[in-house]
Amino acid sequence: MPIGAITRGTTNTNRLRRVDRWIAAQPVLRRADDPLVVDLGYGASGVTALELQQRLAKARADVEVIGLEISPERVATANRQLESVRAGATPFAPDARVSFALGGFETPLPRGRRAAVIRAFNVLRQYDEGEVVAAWQRMAGRLQGGRMLDGGQRASGTSTGSAARSASGSAGSGMLVGTPRAGGSAGSGTLVGTPRASGASGRSADRATVSGMLVEGTCDEIGRVSSWVALSPEGPQTFTISLRLAGLEKPSIVAERLPKILIHRNVEGERIHSLLAELDEAWQRNAPLSVYGPRQRWAASIRALAAADWPVLGPAARWRLGELTLPWGAVSPLGFAYP
Ligand SMILES: C[S@@+](CC[C@H](N)C(=O)[O-])C[C@H]1O[C@@H](n2cnc3c(N)ncnc32)[C@H](O)[C@@H]1O
Repeated sequence: MPIGAITRGTTNTNRLRRVDRWIAAQPVLRRADDPLVVDLGYGASGVTALELQQRLAKARADVEVIGLEISPERVATANRQLESVRAGATPFAPDARVSFALGGFETPLPRGRRAAVIRAFNVLRQYDEGEVVAAWQRMAGRLQGGRMLDGGQRASGTSTGSAARSASGSAGSGMLVGTPRAGGSAGSGTLVGTPRASGASGRSADRATVSGMLVEGTCDEIGRVSSWVALSPEGPQTFTISLRLAGLEKPSIVAERLPKILIHRNVEGERIHSLLAELDEAWQRNAPLSVYGPRQRWAASIRALAAADWPVLGPAARWRLGELTLPWGAVSPLGFAYP
């Protein structure tokens, strides 16, 4: 029996483009020996799994996507769609490395394979907050890799102090721009998608065994407002917001689309609440920069957060896409523990 419950199957073409673009840029995809990606809970149509493969193939041509659904009917629907794909009757490549199967949080994979990436989007939204960590653990247990080397980069000249150093070694593969505030140290001290020591394996460093990555998050129906947590097998590592900047009134619109672990924590005293309040303030203060375009305004707002000691991760090129990534510890709920 697949683990979990059948929930609403709402999905949409192009809805997950923001998170797909972010995954495509992660080192784990380039470096995995077996570039196997799981789309867990793809919904009433298999389109987001097909899009995921299409987008990731630009970064890693041999990527393979397995769509898993807990609903047998939705597996049957996606397999019918796949027949049309194979017949060349869709915009997707007829030989796209995509398949669909029945599965839940236990993430069943053929021949004992493990996933380089698991994307579970708009799935946990329909569960209780208290169920999140157990679901994360089950999925993360199916990822490739294990303990990671400490090798994060810090943006030169933009961050000082031991607190910053400790966060830079534990917050994914990005560069740290700000310095963490109290309680802002990241996750469990591992990196997402960074190579392990290749040792005697004989593999090149670029294809060394890497730690896989679980990306769990939420977005709106048309994918303009999105946020997610990235986890290594050891636990949560980073938190990312990705917003369409054109016409954005307030960044805190994302409050409605936070991952389940955070959505009920947008209240006074919680770090996510402070982050969204300060981001709104910075966005407001930088309104005059709109004349140069919303990207300039967003970048200035993020620099303001960094200057206020939020441990913002770079590179700055990502900000132009409407993204903001922080170490998990900068937003983790009070009392949060990953077993
Ligand atoms: C709202 S849809 C999301 C579809 C797609 N991921 C998206 O973001 O557009 C959620 C889907 O997750 C499926 N689901 C819920 N729990 C699951 C589980 N434990 N394992 C696999 N699929 C699950 C539901 O059956 C439903 O089809």
